[in-house]
Amino acid sequence: MNHGLQKTQQRYLGIIGHRLSHTLSPAMHTAAFKKLNLDYVYGVMDVQSDFLPGAISSMSALNFRGVNVTVPHKQAVVPFLDEISKEAKIIGAVNTIVHNNGKLIGYNTDVDGVTFSLKKYSSEIMGKSVVIFGAGGATRATVYALVANFSPHRITLVNRTLDHAQKLVDVFQPQFPTTNFFVTNNDNTTIREIDSAILLINTTSIGMKPHVKIHPLPAKAVIQPKHIVFDIVYNPMYTSLLTMAHNSGARVIGGVEMLLGQGEKAFELFTNQHFPLETAREALSKELR
Ligand code: ATR
Repeated sequence: MNHGLQKTQQRYLGIIGHRLSHTLSPAMHTAAFKKLNLDYVYGVMDVQSDFLPGAISSMSALNFRGVNVTVPHKQAVVPFLDEISKEAKIIGAVNTIVHNNGKLIGYNTDVDGVTFSLKKYSSEIMGKSVVIFGAGGATRATVYALVANFSPHRITLVNRTLDHAQKLVDVFQPQFPTTNFFVTNNDNTTIREIDSAILLINTTSIGMKPHVKIHPLPAKAVIQPKHIVFDIVYNPMYTSLLTMAHNSGARVIGGVEMLLGQGEKAFELFTNQHFPLETAREALSKELR
């Protein structure tokens, strides 16, 4: 049957990770291709670490247009790329690779995901204090987005392993001297920092299915109506942290926004087309329901 599409022009994309649980990227991108009538195929590729160099180099041989990269390969792919963007270099992780004229170029569109999620609050965040839970790869992208696009006065990193948070600060503080970084794993100090912050962000996996009853805040912490609370966990859509924040009168942002924002940027890098946001949002909601 002829669908009016040249099969020879079909382009290949996908997501590379290992032990991928249910990834939402194929549904989101495929819905967007369908909406724009683009002849792309987006697959899921489970790649063990030993095979990562081969998998990346085969992108050129197989003429892949690009891939998204997820756990545990976001840092490990960096040495196999021809170029990486400025933010991916500082963060030390890539979540999107584009194959352009024989060159593999790495980007970190998690930064765009965070920027997209927070943009309507930008005037409130500027010059204020932010508390971030976590010190992993997602935290690095979050910190980059904040310092590059929202100019907060202070960022406090709350993390169980203080040393991980300090390492992050050692990378970012010299590059972004106008933001004042602080690290803690002490509950009383965290409560004090929360009281004086406008924005609270969870960048850990705490609260993710199936551990839906837990949240990263100290037991005695109080969320106030002034707070904006952003949780990068998207499953469940309303985490324990977001439910608590909503019940306290705070404004909340769910992890689906982050997924959409990083997906939008990746889609535009892959296709040079405008991302049909509402189509993608519907596809994600359907998957998560
Ligand atoms: P990613 O790259 O996806 O952000 P990661 O690098 O494994 O993931 O980072 C996970 C972050 O969540 C870390 O800051 C981790 O704390 P540690 O640095 O102490 O390991 C934090 N984290 C994950 N699960 C946690 C839990 N149950 N309690 C406290 N912190 C947790």
